[in-house]
Amino acid sequence: MILLSIDGLPPDTRNALRYAIWAVANLFFIEYLVRLWVAPEEGRYRETSSTMARLQWAMSLPGLVGLLATVPIFMWLAGYRIVGADAASIFCALWILKLGLHAPALGTLARVVSNERAPIAGVLVLFFIVLVIAATAAHMLERGRQPEAFGSLPSALWWAVVTLTTTGYGDVVPVTVGGRLVGSVLMISGISVLAIMTGVLATGFSQEERRREYLRVWEQVARVPIFAALGVVTLSEIVGKLRTRYYPSHVTIMRRGDPGDSMFFISSGECEVRLPSGGTVRLGEGAFFGEMALLERQPRSATVATARPTTLLVLYASDFYEIASRIPALAEAVEMEAKRRREENLERMAGEPRR
Ligand code: CMP
Repeated sequence: MILLSIDGLPPDTRNALRYAIWAVANLFFIEYLVRLWVAPEEGRYRETSSTMARLQWAMSLPGLVGLLATVPIFMWLAGYRIVGADAASIFCALWILKLGLHAPALGTLARVVSNERAPIAGVLVLFFIVLVIAATAAHMLERGRQPEAFGSLPSALWWAVVTLTTTGYGDVVPVTVGGRLVGSVLMISGISVLAIMTGVLATGFSQEERRREYLRVWEQVARVPIFAALGVVTLSEIVGKLRTRYYPSHVTIMRRGDPGDSMFFISSGECEVRLPSGGTVRLGEGAFFGEMALLERQPRSATVATARPTTLLVLYASDFYEIASRIPALAEAVEMEAKRRREENLERMAGEPRR
């Protein structure tokens, strides 16, 4: 569609592009019908009747965007040419909205803007205050010398917006000393206001990510028995220190001899421990590993790799030491298992069959 707007395109290319757009329009139309049909299958509509589910989906954001994407088809049926007639082209341009539905980060952005609405509104108000004061000052100082550019407040506001956003088209430039002073202050304020906005959004993003990670970890922690006996307060402290990591199968998590900087809990999947004796041990959901290097302050005693796609909870060494000193029961359970494993490894090294 963008290419079609270029004048002087060879007729063959123009026709090929038209057919391509026509094919896409049909595809989106079919997609809309299929999505509408399968809407009752979506988990969140399980409780409602099929008709209500379809109606609710049609009124949801994906439904409305999907509907807009089908508009070019109806316009064509009503006699408009799909490209060439401006109105139909504009609706084709709305197809770009479908991209937004498939970018989860946009949902995060919407949540961040909603969470941070108070500081964002504060920054916008600040922006507006600086804008109006600067435009008024420039209007007073410059209108004598440049009546067309600064003769009215709206035209002075245009200059102020261009300057405050640090765009600087250069179409309107203050010429009096006072006007230039106002311009300088405005430019510096512009940089500061944009920096504050960037800071607000960046903090919002990182807080949102931390919140989501926290919820993810809560879900995973329930599957690790060693945490089951802990009270909610203790558990919530630990959850704040754990990080989730997803690994495909056959990925080496640690190698024998590496320095140990963290320990891992398996919340789903399975790992294989390759022992120095040559044997292997499988660890499943709820088990932990990597504790021996932290307890003994020694290099890793074995190589551990995933045997299946696995979700691990990672606890960094410094957090492990802190938690171990505050929750002796947890430290004891980990130490006992480490002791058992050490003995097992010694036995295996000595070649004795394990009881
Ligand atoms: P670490 O020595 O830090 O790194 C390798 C890990 O493999 C080790 O901690 C244990 O968590 C784990 N491991 C070592 N030996 C055994 C064993 N016999 N059974 C289960 N896990 C083991």
